[in-house]
Amino acid sequence: MEVVVQNLRIAFPSPSGPLEAVRGVSFTLGQEKLAIVGESGSGKSLTARAIMRLLPRAAMLSADALRFDGIDVLNADENAMRRIRGGRAGLVMQDPKYSLNPVMTAGAQIAEAWRAHRGGTRRQAREAAVDLLAQVQIRDPGAVADRYPHQLSGGMGQRVMIAMMLAPDPELLIADEPTSALDATVQAEILRLIEDLVQRRGMGLILISHDLPLVSHFCDRVLVMYAGRVVEECRAGELARAQHPYTRGLLECLPILSEKRRRLAVLRRDPSWAAA
Ligand SMILES: Nc1ncnc2c1ncn2[C@@H]1O[C@H](COP(=O)(O)OP(=O)(O)OP(=O)(O)O)[C@@H](O)[C@H]1O
Ligand SMILES: [Mg+2]
Repeated sequence: MEVVVQNLRIAFPSPSGPLEAVRGVSFTLGQEKLAIVGESGSGKSLTARAIMRLLPRAAMLSADALRFDGIDVLNADENAMRRIRGGRAGLVMQDPKYSLNPVMTAGAQIAEAWRAHRGGTRRQAREAAVDLLAQVQIRDPGAVADRYPHQLSGGMGQRVMIAMMLAPDPELLIADEPTSALDATVQAEILRLIEDLVQRRGMGLILISHDLPLVSHFCDRVLVMYAGRVVEECRAGELARAQHPYTRGLLECLPILSEKRRRLAVLRRDPSWAAA
């Protein structure tokens, strides 16, 4: 699996003409963990979702190249895109409430996702669902399979969501701030789980996050976005030595617990960062 993005642009119509939200983003992704960081509105979600062509209706999409494992996402028909979305690539979002069906049990939803992709009997699908729940480290998977989404805690809901995304055995997982609705301990557990699954299954991962220290530990490579552009791309381990003033600003705004600073630095912006 390889993702190729060249000069990706996404714009929205407005009374004063198209507003470009993503402005010439390029990157490639193989079997690795890529982070996209940047402030709210910088275009992280749109960039990642473009790979699955899951964009708001009004979005105008263009690129010199946008390929998922050789498939031309710009020109593929809906059937081809459905095969990617429902099988080869999975999207985990911040809040499982919007992705889980409230009137179906966790087990039934996972079983359905599994069966849609692999066929087999209901019984096999149910067994696979319970097995997937065990894989996302749910302790009593048989009992949890029979619960409805409202009967699950936030962390459990997120595990169920991840289990459902894994059912078709995807090659790429896009996790869009998958843990920002959870408290710190559960956050760490979910990330460890994603890391473990990505490694064992040999998937590619795009992790979208606001949390620079977290991604520098967790990912291989980091794209820093600002105002619809990639302003910096580096190996995650080198993030601390990042050059771009915006990235430096993000890093310097972080509180350092071991260091008694009188006040936090304020992120300064320079209009030239957004310029073409
Ligand atoms: N449906 C839409 N209609 C108009 N503009 C939109 C729409 N969706 C997104 N945008 C524009 O695109 C910009 C980037 O959106 P995107 O969701 O990619 O940001 P993001 O970096 O993921 O932010 P966040 O961290 O808040 O999730 C938004 O600030 C907004 O201006
Ligand atoms: Mg977003």
